[in-house]
Amino acid sequence: MDFWVQKRVWIIGASSGIGEGLVHVLARNGAELIISARNETKLQELKDAYSESEIESLSLDVELRSTLAEKSEKAWNIYGGLDYVFLNAGMSVRDLVVESKLEVERKIMDINFWGPVAITKKLLEKRDANIPLHLVLTSSLSGKYGVPKLAAYAASKHAMQGYFDSLRAETYGSGLFIHIVIPGFIRTNITVVGLRGDGSQSGKMQNALAEGMDPATCAKGILKGLEKGKDEFVVGGSERFTIGFNRFFPGLMKKLIRSNPLQRIKKLRKSIFRK
Ligand SMILES: NC(=O)c1ccc[n+]([C@@H]2O[C@H](COP(=O)([O-])OP(=O)(O)OC[C@H]3O[C@@H](n4cnc5c(N)ncnc54)[C@H](OP(=O)(O)O)[C@@H]3O)[C@@H](O)[C@H]2O)c1
Repeated sequence: MDFWVQKRVWIIGASSGIGEGLVHVLARNGAELIISARNETKLQELKDAYSESEIESLSLDVELRSTLAEKSEKAWNIYGGLDYVFLNAGMSVRDLVVESKLEVERKIMDINFWGPVAITKKLLEKRDANIPLHLVLTSSLSGKYGVPKLAAYAASKHAMQGYFDSLRAETYGSGLFIHIVIPGFIRTNITVVGLRGDGSQSGKMQNALAEGMDPATCAKGILKGLEKGKDEFVVGGSERFTIGFNRFFPGLMKKLIRSNPLQRIKKLRKSIFRK
């Protein structure tokens, strides 16, 4: 993985799951890292684990929009610029729309959508048009189709897709590269620390995720896709084929997804792909 040697990489959402997986692989492969999230203790542990590597921590809360320009400026200055920025921080909410408070839905939009947008605006200001800057957004299968009980989460990832597809088109040929990564079911704590519609913590890992890909394998898949320069790609098990299924059989997909969609996607992938 020589590709990553001395690449200046900022990972936002680095303290667990997919982001932590990225930290492990990149730290071992010579990248100059800045790691960000709210959990400072975890960031320090990661920094200590790779004391031989170039790794700096910069704690931040993507929900606190007014702080993000200053944090982005700081991150930019640590190594005198950035090559790759992983806009990976995310939070889930799982509940029916009628059971979900508006403020909880807004929180999800703030973390998953407005945070990455605010950081991007500052980076666009800082970047030099002649030097490549890669923005890597972590979207979701539910950025491609709606899923019951995931309305706000799906909305945040659909918004991310639309916004960053538009930015990619606007800036084509200018040295800005936008990569949208779509993880399938990855075994992280996102649903455990995720919220219910009333704002309380779920505390439960969803079965589909418990049986999903491990974050280290996901991180390697993400880095492989980036090394190939892909604009958009899916990393996961056979649930990834639901994107094609939705594109070619949208009516059938809508029927399948109406109740117990994760169970149905699992059954579908078993029957078609025998996994
Ligand atoms: N796991 C999956 O199956 C799956 C599937 C599709 C997409 N995704 C996406 O993948 C990304 C990573 O999620 P994950 O599955 O790895 O979950 P995770 O283990 O819960 O990691 C989420 C990361 O985001 C950070 N974060 C959350 N809220 C934040 C905030 N307000 N400010 C700063 N950082 C914040 C967390 O750090 P702190 O708590 O320390 O702040 C943590 O580092 C998310 O965007 C998620 O939507 C995951």
